[in-house]
Amino acid sequence: MTARSFILDTDPGQDDAIALFLALASPELQVDAVTTVAGNVPQPLVTENALALLSLCNRSDIPVYRGCERPMLRDLYTAEYVHGPRGIDGSELPPTSTSPEKQHGVDAIIERCLQAEDGSVTLCPVGPLTNIAMALIKEPNIVPKIREIVWMGGAFHEPGNTTNLSEFNAYVDPHAAHVVFTAGAPLTIFPLDVTHKALMLPEHVDRLEAFDTPVSRAAVGMLRFYERYDVDKYDIPGAPLHDPCVVAYLVDPTLFVGHRTHVAIGYTDETTIGNTSEVEGMEANATIMTDVDAERFFDLVVTRVGSL
Ligand code: RIB
Ligand code: CA
Repeated sequence: MTARSFILDTDPGQDDAIALFLALASPELQVDAVTTVAGNVPQPLVTENALALLSLCNRSDIPVYRGCERPMLRDLYTAEYVHGPRGIDGSELPPTSTSPEKQHGVDAIIERCLQAEDGSVTLCPVGPLTNIAMALIKEPNIVPKIREIVWMGGAFHEPGNTTNLSEFNAYVDPHAAHVVFTAGAPLTIFPLDVTHKALMLPEHVDRLEAFDTPVSRAAVGMLRFYERYDVDKYDIPGAPLHDPCVVAYLVDPTLFVGHRTHVAIGYTDETTIGNTSEVEGMEANATIMTDVDAERFFDLVVTRVGSL
């Protein structure tokens, strides 16, 4: 079986970290590169976090490319109130001496796409879509090279988590999301509609803790820090594990249920900025996921991250 390779575009973020761990622990997948984008916390923190996470997993062979410093038009809006000042608070990762590549993340995405066969590149943005949009604007010829863009973001029939109408990744850079939604590349979206059904319960975290490895200890510390915001905000028994849904889908798409639709995003009016919606009567431009087999999903996450 040939592993499915992909580029993880990320703003670590505790849930981003679990997504990366799951990818590194999955023989079905190959992380070709990590590109970082300002989101949960600013640059250079997201880049430093990506380097530290890869170093913790002894995978500093995977190149990290520093991407955009801010959204395309709007000022950067960050989420230290959820993720802590460092962005992956809750665990003390060992210091790393590794550095990002010299090439910019946007140029790395473009170069890797142009070098690839048509329809072969999988891009997995799990933060604001700034890097992906900038690559599409700078080099539209990457579109035929893309097999699938798999994005964690948006909220369609679920309240937002940043405003009541918008999810964080969509809210931070709605203009970038509009560019991606209209680019014509195959697009699969994991919105809050499905990630709010993937709640990491205390028993899941306890099972992960029992592995007692450097990675599982880091993951447990991050998760126990990260969960408090959503548990308090939504009065729910566990934190939604947003970004790992993207990686789990690459491993086993049968974990999820979705449908084809036309997606659009508000980017002009401050009251609806970042609001993603399904538009009836227009040609489908995306698959949005709406349900998950949570028990199988968490079995996958816990056993694989625990195995790292
Ligand atoms: O709304 C959840 C998303 O915003 C996740 O990707 C999380 O890491 C933050 O980036
Ligand atoms: Ca993220």
